[in-house]
Formats: sequence, C-alpha cells, structure tokens
Amino acid sequence: MAINTDKVLVTHSEIEEMLDRLAGEINRDYEGQPLVVVGILTGAFIFTADLVRRLEMPIIVDFMQVSSYVGEYSTGVLKIKKDLSYDIRDMNVLIVEDIIDTGRTLALLKEQLLTREPKSLKICTAFDKPSRRVNDLVPDYNGITIPDEFIVGYGLDLDGKYRDFDDVRIVRKE
Ligand code: IMP
Ligand code: MG
Repeated sequence: MAINTDKVLVTHSEIEEMLDRLAGEINRDYEGQPLVVVGILTGAFIFTADLVRRLEMPIIVDFMQVSSYVGEYSTGVLKIKKDLSYDIRDMNVLIVEDIIDTGRTLALLKEQLLTREPKSLKICTAFDKPSRRVNDLVPDYNGITIPDEFIVGYGLDLDGKYRDFDDVRIVRKE
C-alpha cells in the first residue's frame, strides 16, 4: 500500500494568515500580562515556534509530551512522557496543540494542569476536527476547522514522517 500526500488542504499562506489572526486575538486578550505557553510535543513544535514569535507579552515557553489511552473501565488515562519544567501556579497558561481530534488528550491534560492551580488555563489549536469529538471540549483559540481526514505537515505526522512540509496535506492510502 502506497501513501499519497499530493492533496494540499491548507496552503502555507493560509497558515500565515491563521497565525496572524490567532496572535492578534491572544495579544488582545492578555494585553501585556505574562503568559506561560505550553507546546504539546511533538506535533505542535512548529506551530508553537511560529506563534510565540508573534506574541507581544512577556512569555515563558515550556513543552509537555503526553498521550491518552482508553482503558476498559475508564474514560481515559493520561500518560505524561515529558512534564513541564516550570511551576504554573498563579500563572496564565496557554496550551498550544497541533490538532484536536476526539478531544480525549486535551480534556485529560486540562484536568491535570488545573490541579496545579494556574491563574487561568486556555487552549489554542492550529487545527480542529470537531466531527470526531467524544466530549464537549472546545478550544479557546481555533486556527482552521478541517473535515474528517487524516492530515500531515506543519508539524503533524504519519508514523513520524511529513512533519517538515510547510503546508498541510491529506493522506490517501492507495
Ligand atoms: P485526541 O484529540 O485525543 O483524539 O488526539 C489528538 C492527537 O492525535 C493530536 O495531538 C495528534 O497527535 C493526533 N492526530 C489526530 N488527528 C490527526 C491527523 O489528522 N494527523 C496527524 N495527527 C493527528
Ligand atoms: Mg499530538
């Protein structure tokens, strides 16, 4: 089976427009208040890098690597592979994610980070697939809503590949 990534869903210039719009909303909402930006590895590394360079308030950049799995008798368990380096208590925190699919990972991560008592906690995602959601998670800042397709590029991967594309493409298996 061959993997075809010829179909471009979001162009690089559309991504740049999205970044300018999201940074504008975030700059307006936090207006000079310090912010801890938490990029979710690995998918959000490019989005985080592009977004923070457009932010105007004093920021600390940190990263987490997490995954979620659904157990037989649970709604989901969060596995933390890499935790934060900073204490977020009493800080404004913005989670930066590449894509929200079922919403399980971010719902669990949000619950975990809230136990650390930040001043505020919001979510910014580059891409959103709301048609796949299994809970009521809604991002505070949403870049581009996409259909129920598997996408790669701009940090998103298939088995570790294609993260380096500067646009977003649909994966077709042929
Ligand atoms: P969920 O919201 O808990 O289902 O998981 C979201 C995670 O699944 C994202 O952070 C991505 O790592 C991965 N993911 C979901 N959809 C896609 C996709 O279309 N392309 C690449 N990764 C995806
Ligand atoms: Mg991810």
